[in-house]
Amino acid sequence: MTTAESTAEAAESGAKTPSVVLKLGGSVITDKEKPETVDTDRLVEAAAAIRDATVSNLVIVHGGGSFGHPAAKGADVAIETGTRDTEAIREIHAAMGRLNGAVLDALAAEEIPAVPVRPFSAGSRNRNGDIVLPTAHLETMLEEGFVPVLHGDVIVTAESGATIVSGDELVVSVAEDLEVDAVGLCTTVPGVLDENETVIPEIHEFEAVREVLGGSSATDVTGGMAGKVRSLLELDTGAQIFDLAGLEDFLAGATAGTRIDSQEE
Ligand code: IPE
Repeated sequence: MTTAESTAEAAESGAKTPSVVLKLGGSVITDKEKPETVDTDRLVEAAAAIRDATVSNLVIVHGGGSFGHPAAKGADVAIETGTRDTEAIREIHAAMGRLNGAVLDALAAEEIPAVPVRPFSAGSRNRNGDIVLPTAHLETMLEEGFVPVLHGDVIVTAESGATIVSGDELVVSVAEDLEVDAVGLCTTVPGVLDENETVIPEIHEFEAVREVLGGSSATDVTGGMAGKVRSLLELDTGAQIFDLAGLEDFLAGATAGTRIDSQEE
């Protein structure tokens, strides 16, 4: 059975709880060195792995790569730096729309029932910096057998105009609200690496890896691996970080890369 078939079956049986949130990192699906360039080979590889998996309820989130980051940088907008320049907001959102279109096309080519969910129109950031993304539409999409595809974006923000929301933030927000069973971040590295470049199999607390990750401030929620580990440790369900080679295993429910779980010992 493929992901499309099991999604359809789950939709028919009325299954409600999504089981998996998967982030495809911007560096995985784009060529970071070339403006607005999709890494077609890797995107097709990811789509094929998703097609072959038997995941009944899947939410995909993708990063910005060479689409979102240059647009955001050019407009001087970041997670904690807002703008009220509507042209800049439209340009960042449009750049991410172009990448989202490419991702949807690649998924559609594998007959995955993927549909766009564009965070600028779906959510906001409150004055505490928290993402507010209502999930009723996501639940209905899953119930109806669709695979929602969200992306890092520009997002309207209380008292700051609009800021950037990273794919990682969206993953955490969606995973918490939908109480998913598994969370995976597909990155360009095979997991969280120690000082010898060896994958650390499990992380249960930040202190254990602070030195190797170079530490990070509490506000560094998306800055590299330290930020990812910190925010993923807050998830009850735990999470895994792996590369494209680990995607198949992750989707099959097997161990892939580094498992991050503050609930386990
Ligand atoms: C960035 O999202 C979105 C924009 C810059 C608009 P991410 O931070 O999740 O992107 P990647 O995965 O690092 O490329």
